[in-house]
Amino acid sequence: MPPTIEPTGAILGATVRGVDLARPLDDTAFALVLRALGRHGVLRFPDQDLTSQQLKDFSERLGEIQGSIRHGGKPPASGVQGVGILSNVRENGEYIGSPDAGQDWHTDMSYREVRGFVNVLYALKVPRRDGKVLGGTEFANMHAAYEGLPEAIKTRLDGATATHDFEKFWEYMRREKGSTRPPLTEEQRRLRPPVHHPVFLTHPITGRKVLYCNPGYATRIDGMDERESEEMLAFLFAHQLRDEYRWTHTWTERDVLVWDNLGTIHRAIADYRPDEHRLMKRCQVMATKIFDPEFLRRALGTAPAAA
Ligand code: SIN
Repeated sequence: MPPTIEPTGAILGATVRGVDLARPLDDTAFALVLRALGRHGVLRFPDQDLTSQQLKDFSERLGEIQGSIRHGGKPPASGVQGVGILSNVRENGEYIGSPDAGQDWHTDMSYREVRGFVNVLYALKVPRRDGKVLGGTEFANMHAAYEGLPEAIKTRLDGATATHDFEKFWEYMRREKGSTRPPLTEEQRRLRPPVHHPVFLTHPITGRKVLYCNPGYATRIDGMDERESEEMLAFLFAHQLRDEYRWTHTWTERDVLVWDNLGTIHRAIADYRPDEHRLMKRCQVMATKIFDPEFLRRALGTAPAAA
């Protein structure tokens, strides 16, 4: 039986049923999932039982996985290279993973030359208080944000690029959120230099334009003077976070959530205490395949713009 896709009915999100991610998806299921990802931005696969290796195998079908520069090349706590741990759980006084990853609006890997395509998160512990689920992940829809821009801004920014810098979010977390992460080392800076991307991208699956300029990493509209760039960025950041573009995923243990980093921005909601434990495994998948027309033709079985 092919999987079923149940849209949330909101601006983003769908639940995919009838899929066991521990096994390779057949081509029909993979095509359905990829199309649904373009259309709904965030896909939830409930009731999954996965090893770290199975999580990685599923994620790698979508593209190459970004390695972490956080731990100086040490193997991650998941035991599998490319599978990170996000958690406030401590063992022997040490966090077992990153305790404050993604805790404000951003798009993963917009700071890389090869952009991010998807994140894949697998929930193992979800914090609750008085029956209320905490630690959700909130998203905003960048297809809708592009479409809602005033025509004058679309015209002004047509063909423009922006600078994205990994250090912006890192330093913001240290300065504004009391993060205990140390400053980046020279070597980490060397591995994550600033990069430039178009402010508007054509989404490879939907063929529609998206706003690709997020508050976490975008530092400058290239070629504009500083003041105009600051004003433009402030406008874009406020615009893309309008209520009507936003939707929150409430986690259940054993959810796998796959989201499109080209068509959405997101933030982890840090509304839980240190003794309320959250534990996720994460793969960050780069756009090494999704812009390749041959990959898309084979994966979707049709021309990308028609998807
Ligand atoms: C992330 O930004 O990848 C983390 C999101 C989350 O933990 O909810």
